[in-house]
Order: sequence, then C-alpha cells, then structure tokens
Amino acid sequence: MFNFKNRVVVISGASSGLGAQMAKGFAEQGADLVLMARRLDRLETLAGELSAMGVKCLPVKCDVTDSAMVDDAAAAVEKEFGKVDVLINCAGSAKNAGVIDMTDEEWDFTMTTDLTSVFYVTRAFAKIMKKAGYGRIINIASMYGLVGNTAIDTVAYHASKGGVVNMTRAVAAELAKYNITCNAICPGYFATELTEAVLSTDEFTAYMKATVPLGRYGNSGELNAGAIFLASEEASYVTGVILPIDGGYTAV
Ligand SMILES: NC(=O)c1ccc[n+]([C@@H]2O[C@H](COP(=O)([O-])OP(=O)(O)OC[C@H]3O[C@@H](n4cnc5c(N)ncnc54)[C@H](OP(=O)(O)O)[C@@H]3O)[C@@H](O)[C@H]2O)c1
Repeated sequence: MFNFKNRVVVISGASSGLGAQMAKGFAEQGADLVLMARRLDRLETLAGELSAMGVKCLPVKCDVTDSAMVDDAAAAVEKEFGKVDVLINCAGSAKNAGVIDMTDEEWDFTMTTDLTSVFYVTRAFAKIMKKAGYGRIINIASMYGLVGNTAIDTVAYHASKGGVVNMTRAVAAELAKYNITCNAICPGYFATELTEAVLSTDEFTAYMKATVPLGRYGNSGELNAGAIFLASEEASYVTGVILPIDGGYTAV
C-alpha cells in the first residue's frame, strides 16, 4: 500500500513548518516533490536534503497570492514532470485581530493568503490533473475553520479556513468526474513559525491543556500520516472529507 514512486507531489508553503514536514514525509514514501513558497533559499536547502533520499525535487519560488505567478509555477511543473498527481495547499499566514478592531488591510491580507490563494493554486494545478484523469488535492485548513475559539481573536483566519473547508467540498463534487479527489485536513495546534509566539506563552499552554483532550500540541510530522493516506492511490473513494488532526479539540 501507499506506493508513491513516480508520483509527483506539489506542496505550497514548503519552506517551513507543516509544509516542510509533509515534504519529508512524502520523500520517505518515495514521492517526487515540487516545493513552492517565496523563500527560495529555504526551498533549495530542503530540496538538497530530500534529493539525497533519492527522490526528484524541484524548488519553485511562488507567491500564491499572485495568480500569474501561480500559473507560471504550474507551467514550469508541467514542463518538468508532465503531470501532477498530488497537490497540497498548505501555504498560509494570518493577521490576528478581533471583529471590532480588525482593519480592512488585515482582513484582506488573511483572506487573500489563506483562501483566495487556494483557489488560484487549485485552478492552475487541477487543469493539469484533468488532462491525466487523475488527481489528489489536499487542503490544509484548520480546526479554526470548523469552530470559533476563546483564546485568540482571529476572525479573518476563522472565516478564511471555513471557506477552505467548504471549497474543499465544492471542488470534490465538481472534479470527481475527472477522477480528482479533494479533501481537507484541519490541524490543531502545532508549533511552527506561524504559531510559536502565541503557543509558547504560559497562558496559551494552560488553555491548550484544558481544551485539547490529548493535552498537548501536535508534534512535528504528526500530520503526515493523514496527508499520505488522502494522497494515496488507495484513497480512491475518499473525497469531500474534512479530517481534523487536532488532538480531539473539535470533538468536545
Ligand atoms: N501550526 C498550526 O498550529 C496550524 C494549525 C492549523 C492550520 N495551520 C495551517 O497550516 C499551514 C502551514 O502553516 P505553518 O504552521 O506550517 O506555518 P509556517 O511555518 O509559517 O509556514 C507557512 C508557509 O506558508 C508559506 N507562505 C505564506 N505566505 C505565502 C505566500 N504569499 N506565497 C507562498 N507561500 C506562502 C510560507 O513560505 P514563505 O514565507 O517562504 O513564502 C511557509 O512555507 C497554514 O495554512 C496554516 O494556516 C497551521
């Protein structure tokens, strides 16, 4: 099961955090990788590490909020590999503020980075998948796309990730006829560049222990098994699924 040899896996947001962790997980499964983000130096370093594991690895500098740059990235990937088997939409960021205090700029930044970008990247890469009649799209949403929270005011992040969750269902329904599946993973708290400032406070640790049944943050690599399953050939009848990997946060 789960043979990724000669499978091409594109990961946006691969220069750090969960994207980089998933890239390593897929390389361990033998997949060829396309690593996308803005920090090319980081991608090149990671590509060097993964190539040493015997897989092909293409770093592509791409700002996912720029649709022309996304289309160029997709064209470069198609030229290099001739196909895309798996797309993981992982790039993301956020400006945190509550609904009363948030500025237009903070709202627009978050919605563009976390929701509109998923549309741009999916549109560009699904065209390539459609030609082959095969594809697996995995959107990294968030447990905050499923529920609100009382620890940190971040209304645009909730809205954008909720949008990703329902876009996942819409894309799953629409692209099923091309044998393309689309599923979402909703991570809980993982310490990454995005979250470390918030997660490292005593206050947040206490909140997390009180609200996450497993009583801890996610460890590096704990998203990988879910992503690998959804990306596998064997998950051929799984589409439109929203999978929380959150230590039980959304179960209570
Ligand atoms: N960590 C958590 O607790 C958590 C929980 C739920 C959901 N998530 C989601 O998981 C995803 C990854 O987050 P992370 O925690 O791994 O954070 P991270 O370490 O900050 O990684 C974010 C990644 O997104 C890329 N990115 C951001 N803006 C981009 C843009 N405009 N164009 C291209 N790439 C861009 C960054 O690369 P460059 O800066 O090099 O472009 C980086 O590779 C995000 O969608 C986040 O919302 C995280």
